[in-house]
Amino acid sequence: MLLTQIDHVAIAVHDLEAAITYYREAFGAEVHHREVVERDGVDEALLRVGESYIQLTTGTRPDSAITKFLESRGEGMHHVGYRVDDCGEALAAIVAAGGRAIDEAPRPGSRGTTVAFVHPKGSFGTLIELVQE
Ligand code: CO
Repeated sequence: MLLTQIDHVAIAVHDLEAAITYYREAFGAEVHHREVVERDGVDEALLRVGESYIQLTTGTRPDSAITKFLESRGEGMHHVGYRVDDCGEALAAIVAAGGRAIDEAPRPGSRGTTVAFVHPKGSFGTLIELVQE
C-alpha cells in the first residue's frame, strides 16, 4: 500500500478568516500552520485532526485554481491529500493504473513537502494530491 495516511482534506472557502473562526468556535481547532503559496495562488490554514489536517483554503488571485473552483462550484471539498513515502513512485503507480497526472513530476508544496496532483477525471471524481513529507 503506497498511501500511508490521509494527510489532509482540503476545503475551499470564500472567507478564510471566517472559516478558521468557525472551526475554532465549533471544535476548538487551532491553526497549526498558515501559508500563502504564491505559485499556486492560495492562502491556506492547516488545522490538526489526529495525525491529519483539515486544510481550509482560498484563492489569492483570479487565475488561481481555487478561485476558479469557488466561482464555478462554490465552497466545499476540493481535494484529498494522501501521505506517501515516495511521491514519484506513487505518481507513476497512479499513471500506470490509468490515472491522469496534473503534475508530470513531483514539485514543492506547502510546509516544505513534495507533492503531485492527479486529475479527478480518471480518479472517480476526486482531485488527489500525493504528499511526501
Ligand atoms: Co492540498
